[in-house]
Amino acid sequence: MFARMHLQHQVVLCICLVHLIALSLTIAVLVINARDAVRLEVESGAKSARALVLATLGYTLQETPPQDVLPRLAETLVAPRHVHIALVDARRGLLPLREVDNAGSANTVPGWFVRLAKPGFREIRIPVQSNGNRYGYVSITMAPGDEIAEVWHDVASIFWIVSVSALVSALILVWLVNRTLRPLDALRAALARLREGKHSARLGRSTSADLVPIFRGFDDLSEALEAAEADRTRLNRRIVELGDAERRTIAMELHDEFGPCLFGLKVKASSIARAAERLEDQDLAQDAVAIQSIVAQIQASNSRLLTTLRPMAIGQLPLVDALLDLFQGFRSNHPDVEWRVDLSQSLPDTPEIIDLTVYRFFQEGVTNALRHGQPSRITAFLSQQQDTDTAPLLRLVVEDNGSGMGGSMSDDTAGGRGLAAMRDRIDAVGGQLDIGPAEGGGTRLVSSVPLLSSPENAMELRAVS
Ligand SMILES: Nc1ncnc2c1ncn2[C@@H]1O[C@H](COP(=O)(O)OP(=O)(O)O)[C@@H](O)[C@H]1O
Ligand SMILES: [Mg+2]
Repeated sequence: MFARMHLQHQVVLCICLVHLIALSLTIAVLVINARDAVRLEVESGAKSARALVLATLGYTLQETPPQDVLPRLAETLVAPRHVHIALVDARRGLLPLREVDNAGSANTVPGWFVRLAKPGFREIRIPVQSNGNRYGYVSITMAPGDEIAEVWHDVASIFWIVSVSALVSALILVWLVNRTLRPLDALRAALARLREGKHSARLGRSTSADLVPIFRGFDDLSEALEAAEADRTRLNRRIVELGDAERRTIAMELHDEFGPCLFGLKVKASSIARAAERLEDQDLAQDAVAIQSIVAQIQASNSRLLTTLRPMAIGQLPLVDALLDLFQGFRSNHPDVEWRVDLSQSLPDTPEIIDLTVYRFFQEGVTNALRHGQPSRITAFLSQQQDTDTAPLLRLVVEDNGSGMGGSMSDDTAGGRGLAAMRDRIDAVGGQLDIGPAEGGGTRLVSSVPLLSSPENAMELRAVS
């Protein structure tokens, strides 16, 4: 419970507890001392009062007839502090005595304190007698009220001093704790940024000496994460580039070797067909036609394979023209679909890896829409985005109004490899991909791809190509 409390509450609680214990002990000691102090004070007051009464009595007896001694004492005696003097005359009863004004303070003392500090009751009686006759007596009793009031006054002062100092020290500590812990808000915010994948989050130097190692540790960690992330991206990009290069080599082989061979076969089959016609050999003519049709099939699948391995337009046409070519193909194969294609014409030259990423995005996105969604409308959008605080980006959108992806939306690999490969490619160039439902049904793919490649990446590109 205590361990789960906020640090400032723990501090305040501890301070209050310590001061409360200190205050209780101080008051206990004061009360114990007060009882002795009051007793000593009052006893010495009683002794002086007794000596005063005896001296005044002896002097008065010499000058005054014994029956008038007590009334005379009533006029002359003044009760000292801490005692009460009563004159009891045998004939006249209790005689009033002049008293100094001790009033006021005693009745502000709480009863419990008086009970704790008050010494036991004692009375001293001094008889007034002459020649064997008793004329009355003087009674001296303890009156510790004013002494108790003084001690109470001390106790009350100490209580207030301790209470106020506890309050002030608690306030100072809360302020200090707050000030020390305030940088933790920055740490919390930086951790949240790190969790979102923003590895550039740094804290810098802490204003609080206690937090300096933690801040430095955080900065080291985020730096290491940033470096690891950069390595991962570089590696991803390298893998994609190597894959592209390999596909390009295979495409070149197919184009440069298979193409002429197939063409040669076609020419030879035509010659055989012509010879068979001359020789009027029906069987040979049929074989020649069969060879021609097989060659045509191989040529068709060779050309499909070439397009799959490496779009011919990439590297030869500007990106937008290659894309227009792609959409022209889609349009002519699917004339019943409404095509809304909006491609920005003013794009800067982009590295081939970006061109291929953009091309594959539209190719796979539109093919998926046609194959899985059966839409009546497909929208494709490409533009350059330039925010002031980010590097220039290409924004790519493919949207269809088909059946939508349903449950498979959260997992790219639910179907084939198409969407997963698209995400890998986009990741490799440091872009982002969002796959979600389109408004009013269908599927919407949105991606942003950075336009600029770093010089280091550009060098890698040249090395591959
Ligand atoms: N536009 C779309 N409309 C409906 N379903 C889609 C769409 N795009 C993708 N899908 C679903 O997502 C799955 C994964 O797609 P993909 O990775 O390209 O694999 P493939 O196309 O080879 O099946 C598909 O099998 C399909 O069920
Ligand atoms: Mg697919």
